[in-house]
Amino acid sequence: MQNSVTVIAPVNIAVIKYWGKRNEQLILPINDSLSVTLSTADLCSKTTITADPSYEENKIVLNGKEENFDNERITRCVEMIKHRALESESCSKELLAYKIHVDSENNFPTAAGLASSASGYACLVYALAQLYGLKKQEISDIARMGSGSACRSIYGGFVQWQKGVQLDGKDSIAVQIAPASHWPDLHVLILVVNDSKKKVGSTSGMARSVLTSELIKYRVEKCVPQRIHSITQAIKDRDFSKFAEITMKDSNQFHAICLDTYPPCVYMNDVSHAIVNFVHEFNRNEGETKVAYTFDAGPNACLYLPEKYVKRVLAFFNHVLPNDNQNSVEYLRGTPVDIDEETEF
Ligand code: ADP
Ligand code: DP6
Ligand code: CO
Repeated sequence: MQNSVTVIAPVNIAVIKYWGKRNEQLILPINDSLSVTLSTADLCSKTTITADPSYEENKIVLNGKEENFDNERITRCVEMIKHRALESESCSKELLAYKIHVDSENNFPTAAGLASSASGYACLVYALAQLYGLKKQEISDIARMGSGSACRSIYGGFVQWQKGVQLDGKDSIAVQIAPASHWPDLHVLILVVNDSKKKVGSTSGMARSVLTSELIKYRVEKCVPQRIHSITQAIKDRDFSKFAEITMKDSNQFHAICLDTYPPCVYMNDVSHAIVNFVHEFNRNEGETKVAYTFDAGPNACLYLPEKYVKRVLAFFNHVLPNDNQNSVEYLRGTPVDIDEETEF
């Protein structure tokens, strides 16, 4: 019986953002969202879980520092996986009685708007499923209860989180709409502008938006359904300029909602706004949309672009945002990624 597992999970960066819950406990969103799961080399979580009869308490260490295990999200994920394991034939029942130690590392900034909660909770839930011997089955609904965006990191490629309609959240799950291999030409550049922890976390920021923003209702009812439909078609057609335009508009609208929140949540900074301007300038010079930006709840940019533009865009940004004393932008490269057949649930 294997009592220790180590797994890795990738981040995903949304092109249609999830922002707002209709149920805080179950983490049920007010709108569908759509993201791209990114290659793991530069952006992933790695989690080891060990179950042992000698452990007297459960423990979690995140990036070398012990955190509180008894938080509602971790507890719920552990209980739900255990519950499913009990129902499953293949599971190791003996291990279920032991306390566990979780040790997780992110190889990129945590809580800085680069989706660490997505890879982090996907990794935790996936590791638990492996530990207790759960064979291929839906676990995106459990990852969702760790952090909403985590449900999308259970699958590779292009992933939609369907908000669902049921009160118990059973149909609020992630589905792959296309594998990464469908669009191998699509590349990603992450511009790390600031790696410190954001002041307002995504959870409290979106709760405040739901309570106070007028604009959020308009977005949810009038914009998101149409955008999900159009961007899905753009992905199917590999229509980059359509994909890019919808992505940038949705990022801008999401940050407009953050500003429409009271008190406002300001995630982008001057460098972020400069990046937005540079992207539009680059596209104008090209006479076509060749690169798209999107910003999560933080100042760091994620650029989507066709492979053949990576070099030029990097050269352009190194020129306009040189790494000197004022700026220290770190560039991370990635591509959409599929999760290994062996490891995918
Ligand atoms: P981000 O923009 O990075 O997703 P959030 O505010 O949404 O920031 O979430 C950050 C929180 O996610 C962390 O404070 C921590 O509680 C949790 N988290 C991040 N990485 C991990 C991990 N590897 N394992 C478990 N939880 C994690
Ligand atoms: C801006 O998934 O981090 O990154 O569900 O409360 O844990 P909780 O929030 P989280 O929110 C992510 C918000 C976003 C957009 C997105 O990833 O879709
Ligand atoms: Co997050």
